Amino acid sequence: MIEKVHQLISKEEIALKVKEVATQINNDYKGKDVVFVGVLKGVFMFMSDLLKEINSTRVTTDFIGLSSYKGGTKSTGEVEITADLKDSIEGKHVIVLEDIVDTGLTLSFLLKNFEKRKPASVAICTLLEKPSNIEKYVKIDYKCFVIPDKFVLGYGLDYDERYRNLPYIGVMEFIEE
Ligand code: IMP
Ligand code: MG
Repeated sequence: MIEKVHQLISKEEIALKVKEVATQINNDYKGKDVVFVGVLKGVFMFMSDLLKEINSTRVTTDFIGLSSYKGGTKSTGEVEITADLKDSIEGKHVIVLEDIVDTGLTLSFLLKNFEKRKPASVAICTLLEKPSNIEKYVKIDYKCFVIPDKFVLGYGLDYDERYRNLPYIGVMEFIEE
């Protein structure tokens, strides 16, 4: 099998959209202290670019590692925390940053888990949403792109841990040799 990547969203389109979403967040959270929680590891490029556009000097960052057990390509809904937050979010305004919402199972697990930690508020911000696979509805407060039901990679997202370094978002095509 030969792997061929087609560009779906260019780095220029990503940069524009990320700025737009950051502006919305800047407006909505004026004067509030916010903790940005990145879901590892696919979010690292998006988080880095978004945070450079956040104009408050009072924001903090934290990370959480989650793994969902997948049977084949489908998520089973069983999610495990592989690396927990470093600090308490009690009383804090939290914005969860995700690379992609696919079935919604990972995020609905995370939201339930965060509720118990008594934050002041929790909002969801995702780079990509693939609405065709949704199994558990989660309210997405900020999103950059809605994409069709295709496996995407690049700009932090992986195929078998590779391709995270691509500066754009691509779709994989497998060609028989
Ligand atoms: P969900 O629980 O199905 O919403 O899973 C979301 C997680 O699955 C994301 O955080 C990604 O790590 C992974 N994922 C889902 N779709 C894709 C894709 O098209 N490319 C790369 N990773 C994906
Ligand atoms: Mg992920």
